[in-house]
Amino acid sequence: MSVTDPKHDVAEKQPKEESTRRDWLFLAGVAVNAAAGLLLAVPLVGFVFSSFVEKKDPRAWISLGALENFPEKSTRLATYQNPFTRPWDGKTANIPCWVRRLTGNKFQVFAINCAHLGCPVRWFEESGLFMCPCHGGVYYEDGSRASGPPPRGLFEYDYKVENGELWVKGGEMPTLANPV
Ligand code: FES
Repeated sequence: MSVTDPKHDVAEKQPKEESTRRDWLFLAGVAVNAAAGLLLAVPLVGFVFSSFVEKKDPRAWISLGALENFPEKSTRLATYQNPFTRPWDGKTANIPCWVRRLTGNKFQVFAINCAHLGCPVRWFEESGLFMCPCHGGVYYEDGSRASGPPPRGLFEYDYKVENGELWVKGGEMPTLANPV
């Protein structure tokens, strides 16, 4: 009759259990690294292939209203709804702009934002100037820079006249990258 020593049994089982745990940890490590690699690869692949995807024009034509609302040789404040809004944008979806009508169908539509740091400029009929309340930037009636810190004139939107209405190409953020 043979008697087995229980201590000896435990000692024999230990290396096997340890190797199973090590295998499992190794597999878990591989899985975590693979997941991290995939997460990092998604934006990289997106960046590489983004140049092949046709980009949509982020702008759209929006009516500013009937031409009669804009008398010749005058500048008026108008508002349009940003074409790319979300329900929670609220009032920020309403974009103001300055409309200057020269004669007939000749207009200039200016972004309200100062070309310095974006404060809303105001039109002063008496002096024929746009003025910025933030740092004293001043623009002539044609939107060109008159004085102060702005590095350029006011941003101008594209516009068209159609069906007796003035339309602005909205949806574009005015930045210094836009042509003067
Ligand atoms: S934001 Fe208009 S002058 Fe600075």
